[in-house]
Amino acid sequence: MFFLEFLTFAKSIALTAGKIVKEGYYSELTVEKKAEMDYVTQIDKASEKTIKDAVAKEFPTHGFLGEESGSDKPNAEYVWVVDPLDGTTNFVYKIPYFSVSIALKHKSKDKDEVIIGVVYNPLTDEMFYAEKGKGAFLNGKKLEIKQKPKPLEKWFLAYCYRDISKHEEAERIVFDSFFYQTARVLKLGSAALELCYAASNRADAYIGLELKEWDYAAGELIVNEAGGIAIHDKLINKGVTIAGCKEAVSLIRSKILSHNHYGDKNEVG
Ligand code: IPD
Ligand code: CA
Ligand code: CA
Repeated sequence: MFFLEFLTFAKSIALTAGKIVKEGYYSELTVEKKAEMDYVTQIDKASEKTIKDAVAKEFPTHGFLGEESGSDKPNAEYVWVVDPLDGTTNFVYKIPYFSVSIALKHKSKDKDEVIIGVVYNPLTDEMFYAEKGKGAFLNGKKLEIKQKPKPLEKWFLAYCYRDISKHEEAERIVFDSFFYQTARVLKLGSAALELCYAASNRADAYIGLELKEWDYAAGELIVNEAGGIAIHDKLINKGVTIAGCKEAVSLIRSKILSHNHYGDKNEVG
């Protein structure tokens, strides 16, 4: 009951933030460069402020971690983990594929776990969401990841990286492992949404390099609650996130490791 209240709040604030993002998409943008191919606009900031203010009003004791404003009360029992606009590069280049991602993490003595995840695509009005232990849904329809992967040559693989120049060798390994062996490698540009595509069988699996917590927190719960798994491993000297059904994740992991020139010790991150 308690968690349901959080989910209802997260969905409602995702809609409000999504409206800001959608309107922003059709308006003039003020674009600042954080790094090469890493942008922030007034819309990222406005979306995050709206979510952060709503959390502070509704749940004043809760903490907050947002991409644009950083961390507030990180030791609180509940911490909201927010990417106010995931896919800013697409947004800036007028490519209609981005999302708002909101997760709620519960911290206890033994573990931190994400208990709520919402990813909203404001242009398609698609709301992916999950509550820990209660399944994952897309606009009210239950999501279930297909348990047996297709043969690799028929896969659509969603794949994310930030800046190719920083990950050259890792990129090469992922491309050598999958580019010619799968039907298609899709680089769509919103990690949160791509995880949801893996959760809804639109992609057969997902691989991300060096994601931040706000990129994956919500999407990862949605994958898990749809019956799949999402792992973060330190492979090829990079943080690698892999999501999909169990067999697909283990196949991807072992294929990457077989191309691994770094001799990584497969630490789980
Ligand atoms: C980025 C997107 C992109 C992924 C990057 C993220 P942002 O988030 O999710 O698909 O490849 O690693 O940083 O900067 O648009 O919020
Ligand atoms: Ca992001
Ligand atoms: Ca962002």
